[in-house]
Amino acid sequence: MRAANVLVADVLAALAALVAPGVTTGDLDAEAERLVREAGAVPAFKGYRDYPATLCASVNEQVVHGIPSPRALAAGDIVSLDMGVKLNGFYGDAAVTVPVGRVSDGAATLLRVTREALEKGIEQARIGGRISDIGHAIQRHVEAHGFSVVREFVGHGIGAALHEEPQIANYGEPGRGPRLAEGMTLAIEPMVNVGRPGVKVLADGWTAVTRDGSLSAHFEHTVAVTKDGPLVLTRRSVPARLRA
Ligand code: CO
Repeated sequence: MRAANVLVADVLAALAALVAPGVTTGDLDAEAERLVREAGAVPAFKGYRDYPATLCASVNEQVVHGIPSPRALAAGDIVSLDMGVKLNGFYGDAAVTVPVGRVSDGAATLLRVTREALEKGIEQARIGGRISDIGHAIQRHVEAHGFSVVREFVGHGIGAALHEEPQIANYGEPGRGPRLAEGMTLAIEPMVNVGRPGVKVLADGWTAVTRDGSLSAHFEHTVAVTKDGPLVLTRRSVPARLRA
């Protein structure tokens, strides 16, 4: 699990570093697939229910599952990069949303609050807690900042399959659902809208967008429940201070 997830983290970091005005989401997808295969891994999304790409790249009001295209990113956009891989029989999955050039204060706040909400959820991935404690913590943080949580998509267990039990909603009452136990591996992935929570799927069958057209952000980590607390498997392999 660690190897697959560190690869996801490293590839997403490489892609985030390429994000700039003029770069297309198709360019990012090609680089993602090249890096994944070079590492001896297989893209997990490509071919999953006929999804056509390695990466999901969701721009601005796109929430998740944006299909990479010749669309060039522009300064002021935000783009969610979501990727899964399979390596040695195990899956990794993570997402980050990154600014393109300079973005508005509102967009920057959305990114910060969504990243913080993910961290609040991760803190709840503790032995003896319940699955719904995760979504409850996420929802509290998001709504305290006046944003809203998407209801139609959820996080998930992950391991020998990309999507395993249990589903992990990003909202709800605490103390519900399965108990968290040592060794569980969970993909926690809040999707947060500036405006109303509603989403719809475009005619391509994949791209989810906010119904009200407001900006949306998405961050995801794969986390193991351990005796020592939550262990984020999708952290970078090399600490920032040691990187070239
Ligand atoms: Co996921």
